[in-house]
Amino acid sequence: MGQRGVFITFEGIDGAGKTTQIDALEQWLKQEGVEVVRTREPGGTPLGEAIRAMLLHEGMHVTTETLLFFAARAEHISRVIEPALARGAWVLSDRFTDATYAYQVGAKGYPARHVEALESLVQGDLQPDHTVLFDVEPEIAAERLARVRELDRFETEDVEFFRNVRQAYLTRAAQMPSRFFILNTNRDKELVCEELLSEARKWR
Ligand code: TYD
Repeated sequence: MGQRGVFITFEGIDGAGKTTQIDALEQWLKQEGVEVVRTREPGGTPLGEAIRAMLLHEGMHVTTETLLFFAARAEHISRVIEPALARGAWVLSDRFTDATYAYQVGAKGYPARHVEALESLVQGDLQPDHTVLFDVEPEIAAERLARVRELDRFETEDVEFFRNVRQAYLTRAAQMPSRFFILNTNRDKELVCEELLSEARKWR
């Protein structure tokens, strides 16, 4: 068996500008000869994508919502993330469990102890090796989103909701400083990209 891969997750409020930067990191890793598995939550598997469609468009109780995120996650871990890490690939996941702590716990008030129980049930010891938190003012993120597309069920929440999501992310980052890397994305894309790649060089 070769070396185990590296598990990297990307978090932040909607409209924080994750996609472009994950693209750049993926490109760079591939140039370095690294096998990259690019994935996302909710989603990442056929069943996970079906669950994603329900989550983004149907209204539901927060308990149902949380269970569905973890149901999709169980599939994602067993079918995509674990096999990739086992063969030495780098997994880049657009969102993971920190999003459940930020959105369901931080912004919707779902009890953290339930999420902790589900996390342990579904993940066992699996945790991201590194998490990049894209941090931006909710007002700026909302403007960006409104310009580019039609909004889904989460994206139509008000600014107060996203302030709470953002605060929950920042609190988690402060609790786990060695796993989190905070990127201020309220700046020029090129600068953000340079900062991300110089951090990523340390992970190799
Ligand atoms: P995302 O894929 O980032 O949306 P988009 O592709 O439209 O940018 O995430 C979908 C939404 O799901 C996003 O608003 C955050 C939310 N979410 C949660 O509330 N909890 C979770 O555990 C996850 C993974 C996502």
